[in-house]
Amino acid sequence: MQEHVFIRDLADHVGREVLLRGWVYNSRFSGKIGFIIVRDGTGLCQCVVEKNEQAEEVFAAAKDLTQESSLEVRGTVRADERAVGGHELQVTALEPVQKAADFPITPKAHGIDFLMRHRHLWFRSPRQHTILRVRATVVDAIRRYLNDTGYVLIDTPIFSGVAGEGTATLFGVDYFGEQAYLAQTGQLHVEAACMAHGRVYCFGPTFRAEKSKTRRHLTEFWMVEPEIAYADLDDVIAVAEDLVDSVVQRVLRDHRSDLESLGRDVAALEAVRKPFYRITYTEAADILHGPMVRELLEKDLAETKAAAAALSARIEELEEIARTAKKKWRQEKAIQEAQAARMERAELEEQITNIPHHMELAANFEWGNDLGGSDETVIARLHDRPVFVTHYPGAIKAFYMRVDRGNDKLVENFDLLAPEGFGEIIGGSAREEDYDLLLSRIQQEGLPVEPYEWYLDLRRYGSVPHGGFGLGVERTLAWLCGLKHIRETIPYPRMMGKIHP
Ligand code: 4AD
Ligand code: MG
Repeated sequence: MQEHVFIRDLADHVGREVLLRGWVYNSRFSGKIGFIIVRDGTGLCQCVVEKNEQAEEVFAAAKDLTQESSLEVRGTVRADERAVGGHELQVTALEPVQKAADFPITPKAHGIDFLMRHRHLWFRSPRQHTILRVRATVVDAIRRYLNDTGYVLIDTPIFSGVAGEGTATLFGVDYFGEQAYLAQTGQLHVEAACMAHGRVYCFGPTFRAEKSKTRRHLTEFWMVEPEIAYADLDDVIAVAEDLVDSVVQRVLRDHRSDLESLGRDVAALEAVRKPFYRITYTEAADILHGPMVRELLEKDLAETKAAAAALSARIEELEEIARTAKKKWRQEKAIQEAQAARMERAELEEQITNIPHHMELAANFEWGNDLGGSDETVIARLHDRPVFVTHYPGAIKAFYMRVDRGNDKLVENFDLLAPEGFGEIIGGSAREEDYDLLLSRIQQEGLPVEPYEWYLDLRRYGSVPHGGFGLGVERTLAWLCGLKHIRETIPYPRMMGKIHP
């Protein structure tokens, strides 16, 4: 009896006949033999179809299958080290399920806008497939860590009556005639549950009307937010550090070859072990003004210029080949390579205009400003492990952050900056537990007090020192996978001007 097996399990079926169900990744036929690479979501398998072994029609049907056609294929499993995935199927029968129309995504280089418009099909490409599998592992690792260390999952609402993270990025919703918002954070609601359970977390989608397109901002992103009762800033930082450490170890354990296939520098990730670095906001400001940042960025600029020049030379060479090559396939190959090189050069040119601007921003950084994306990037790049930046000026931070009792200009908060320039992946703080101080922060922010009355209740009825943080799944994944842009880290990225598919 033939059984349906997944490609990842083929090792258990060597020598036996099995049934695979999948899609044509690609195929080539010559004369009496054909090779169809089938993918089924768990791996790739080369299926060998020989004319003399097949009924005439089966061979013809196999030959006729286009990229991404769906099929069921039966055959005998052979171990073969040279084959993709280490196995090969000697086909005995093949049943097309649906013959695909011309698949829009081909092995040639496509522009990012095209790929984004075809996100629903782009999922099938190996790179996207890999990234989303790592994402699933990251989410699982986070949940396991929290569930195993005594945190209770509390689901917080997506329709919210309050702004948690400032009014500038609120998505308003007409809630039966009442003003409501899509949750920017689950924190305020999870704080209430924290006073019931002691250690809790929420984990869900959060929404921010980010009105500019950057490589770090989505309008819809997933955030895990643990909250801990009877905790001070150091306690919260210790949990954030341990959580990130455990997620990194899990991803290294389960996805080493995936990370390599994405071009991730795995050794750099291996260096990420506790303890992480800790600096204050004020120290960060000093670093930005110092010579290390200037030197780093000057070196970047020189290297980027050199790389762009090398690419320009290469593009000229390729254009020459495209004009003069005798063989048509060589011309086409050169045209494609030139196209890819031009896209790469455009990115470098953008950096060449940006770097001097980043130097200026760093040099002119004023105490009291928030750290910008490029500031975070350089600070993170000067460290080989993640860096906690603590004690920001309260004026630029959320109203709920605990005022530093030694310096009331500061709050007891932290951002965790990922190394290699990926920037902030976590924001957290001790929460203001004092009723009067919290009330005055709400008023200072110009927020209406009434919708926050329930939140103030937490400071009326058994208030305790407590704190927590929010870790953004997409930023974390971009860092772990070494992706420059956040848009590939979520199945359906939502950004300004991007709602389809
Ligand atoms: O620093 P943020 O705004 O913190 C909060 O929302 C707190 N309420 C968390 C807490 O203390 N419970 O956001 C936390 C993290 C950021 O570090 C980042 O990883 C991610 O959420 N994040 C975004 N990710 C993608 N796109 C955006 N627009 C993001 N904004 C924040
Ligand atoms: Mg933040």
